[in-house]
Amino acid sequence: MINSLVTKAAETHTLNREELVSLLRIQEAPVLFEAADRIRQQYVGDGVYLRALIEFSNYCKNDCLYCGIRKSNLRVHRYRLTPEQILQTARQAVSYGYKTIVLQSGEDLWFNTDTLCYIIREIKKLDVALTLSIGEKSREEYAAYRQAGADRYLLRIETTDKNLYEKLDPGLSWDRRVQCLYDLKELGYEVGSGSLVGLPGQTVASLANDLLFFQKLPVDMAGIGPFIPHPQTPLANEKTDGHFELSLKMMAVMRLLLPDINIPATTAMESLHPDGRLLALKSGANVVMPNATDREFRPFYELYPGKICLGDSAEKCRGCIESKIKSIGRYVENAKGFHGDYLKNK
Ligand code: 5AD
Ligand code: FES
Repeated sequence: MINSLVTKAAETHTLNREELVSLLRIQEAPVLFEAADRIRQQYVGDGVYLRALIEFSNYCKNDCLYCGIRKSNLRVHRYRLTPEQILQTARQAVSYGYKTIVLQSGEDLWFNTDTLCYIIREIKKLDVALTLSIGEKSREEYAAYRQAGADRYLLRIETTDKNLYEKLDPGLSWDRRVQCLYDLKELGYEVGSGSLVGLPGQTVASLANDLLFFQKLPVDMAGIGPFIPHPQTPLANEKTDGHFELSLKMMAVMRLLLPDINIPATTAMESLHPDGRLLALKSGANVVMPNATDREFRPFYELYPGKICLGDSAEKCRGCIESKIKSIGRYVENAKGFHGDYLKNK
């Protein structure tokens, strides 16, 4: 029964909600992981794309209940890199061989459109792909960043359960967030989304809906991360039991449904399991986003506790991840890794 569902997913890339729920509930997970690994190899190969993540500000106007840098967490030491510091960090990342820079921050209104566009234009001069992960903006702002040269945008939907989303992200509208994703697609960005797995009140049926949502959009990239409760948030006492395994299954099923997209082995996976990213790479993932932020600022970008690499330099992470990738018989891909390129080559 489970084997035939896995086969159906691997062959047709289509499953209904009930079938997705059955797959996410399976006990014989290795069957699923092996199928996802095979499909990953067939569609996107053995190369792993690296994206240098620069966490440039932890100021945030939002108050998401799960997030360590929510505005109500007054114990966070807030920092903001200057545009020059951001550019310097990006140049350094490029010198380590990265072909994609990801700029991530809280929703920090200090960075206006002109400043962001200046940073985007300067980074694009380094001949890299540029991804933004800076939250909900107006369509005009997204258009301006695109015009300045931004290639990709990451905006996780977090959960497709609208009620849950609006409970956990007070002041934000789920419909508005979906609109942002459609705006980004229409503007020609490669769009990444994704969900948190294990949120209080989240059901397996709602995770199945998340997968259908990603397929419908469709996303070019989808990052799945286990929810890890932060002690300085209202969700401090929640558990993490089972979140790792369920996240791995979500990634694997996603690979079967969307065989050629980019799927990152997320940092949060390795925060819950010492081999988390490698297990993810063996269960459908093909991207890693090593931290390229200066060591000085890393401890303050604490979205969740136990984040890896806090004491490491950008250079160390670059070398470390490459040897880990090689240890499982894979290699670092030196192309930029646009999803659109896979589609063209088909
Ligand atoms: N545990 C895991 N991931 C988290 N994020 C925010 N808070 C947490 C947490 N407590 C994730 C969100 C966000 C991404 C940048 O970090 O999914 O989109
Ligand atoms: Fe940072 Fe391994 S990736 S030390």
